Amino acid sequence: MLHCSMSYFCLAMLHLPNPSDARDWCNVQRQTGRSVGFVPTMGALHRGHESLVDRARIENDVCCASIFVNPLQFEDGQDFNAYPRDLNADLAVLEAHGCDMIFEGTLESFFPEVEDVRRIPMISAGPFGRGLEEVCRPGHLDGVRTIVDRLFRFVGPAKAYFGEKDFQQTLVVMDLAESLGYPEVIVCPTVREPSGLALSSRNALLSPDEKKEAERIFQSLAAAAKAWSSGIRHAHILREKMIEQFAGSRLIVEYAAVRNPSAWTADDPPGELSHAQALIAARLGRVRLIDNLQLH
Ligand code: PAJ
Repeated sequence: MLHCSMSYFCLAMLHLPNPSDARDWCNVQRQTGRSVGFVPTMGALHRGHESLVDRARIENDVCCASIFVNPLQFEDGQDFNAYPRDLNADLAVLEAHGCDMIFEGTLESFFPEVEDVRRIPMISAGPFGRGLEEVCRPGHLDGVRTIVDRLFRFVGPAKAYFGEKDFQQTLVVMDLAESLGYPEVIVCPTVREPSGLALSSRNALLSPDEKKEAERIFQSLAAAAKAWSSGIRHAHILREKMIEQFAGSRLIVEYAAVRNPSAWTADDPPGELSHAQALIAARLGRVRLIDNLQLH
């Protein structure tokens, strides 16, 4: 397919209303010898999402994205309703970044065989869904795996791009891809503000004051990284270093934890760690933020 930098030469991005049209489009791409890059999102796109699209564009002949605010992964209706949405802005971002096709969907179109979408059979998140998010947002990663399973089946063999920012999600999704036999999952680095704050669609819900306060999340990860560099290898001591950063803060820490990413455990891994990921989730008012950092 011809891609160019001058917009008047470019083919307009295709905007498809449902996943079955997307499946047909992806099949045509593969039948004509083109590799497909896929970026699943819930919209409210920011530079983090853009980095995934840019990479998918570079590494594949064509690139597609999905925008679907998945009700199955929200714990309550309030959080789902409050989730920021701006479709027109998202379409402009995707087109500007050279995305070839974007598709949306509804629960009905993703699960056409289910008569009542209130009874969609949920897929268990699997071994990597244990602990952390499972404890604080029961069912959330099941909801992610259930929708991503559908997204993968509609898109078919492709390279799918995910952000490391949602670390436990990447483990669940890689496990899913392994069980399906496709797609190849590419995990991309977290895009941050200069302060270290990870970009998130939910940042849009924070006041400037709250955003400043949220910087403590990265500071706590940095404290764990510093402790790791000084030779500390025990999960519980590293966690203490993280928690110290929240003294006097309005942030409510849901979890601050260190896990061995290659031997995932629901609880603190015992003994000295050779590989470690520091992970954190905190609430500021009604806004929930998560972040993580590789220590080793
Ligand atoms: P969403 O939160 O929209 O994120 C879409 C993708 O963007 C995810 O892979 C996420 O990890 C990545 N992302 C978010 N912030 C990022 C950042 N600062 N830097 C790099 N990548 C970032 O994650 C979801 O949607 C949903 O759970 C989804 C996978 C679409 C299933 O509904």
